[in-house]
Amino acid sequence: VNAAIAVRPVRADEREAFLAMALRSWRDAYVGILDAAEIDDAPAMLARAWDKRADQFRIAMLEGAVAGFYSLGAADDAKTVNYLWHLYVDPLAQRRGVGSALNAAALTEIKARGATRAWLDVLRANAKARAFYAALGWRDFGAEQDDYDSILMECDIA
Ligand SMILES: CC(C)(COP(=O)(O)OP(=O)(O)OC[C@H]1O[C@@H](n2cnc3c(N)ncnc32)[C@H](O)[C@@H]1OP(=O)(O)O)[C@@H](O)C(=O)NCCC(=O)NCCS
Repeated sequence: VNAAIAVRPVRADEREAFLAMALRSWRDAYVGILDAAEIDDAPAMLARAWDKRADQFRIAMLEGAVAGFYSLGAADDAKTVNYLWHLYVDPLAQRRGVGSALNAAALTEIKARGATRAWLDVLRANAKARAFYAALGWRDFGAEQDDYDSILMECDIA
């Protein structure tokens, strides 16, 4: 655990830093995997997500910078209550424990919602993320029949 990392809700005045970090991380995950139209739409897609759901975003701060974020599925829906929806770390801050800190905070939040198991989906082609989740104790439990060729993963919450 990197004690220099703090996870907390994002503030309205952090919009610009958040969107820049999220775009770098989103591109890190999906350039070369998703098609050009989706890559081109990413800045607008992230801005729309901010406008809709910024109150749900939990950021990791490292050395004064917004280094990553996670968000969960809707708490009032049984299908999404234990869903780790986003987990992204700035390429400038990867491999320093930020992802692990976000994962731990997300599982703590899911546990507080009353669940004993969490789930997520990840693109089959996103080898880095799949290695990261596997290292943190997540396991594959199926594939999703969608346009993206996704793998479902689950994790028991201690
Ligand atoms: C996947 C991701 C979140 C990992 O974040 P991170 O902050 O670098 O992760 P951590 O530093 O906490 O790494 C924890 C462990 O995960 C594993 N891991 C992380 N990156 C890895 C990689 N590139 N290859 C293999 N294993 C990796 C390692 O076991 C690592 O421990 P170690 O550094 O002591 O070896 C980050 O690479 C990322 O944001 N990628 C782009 C966005 C994305 O794909 N998100 C997931 C969408 S479903």
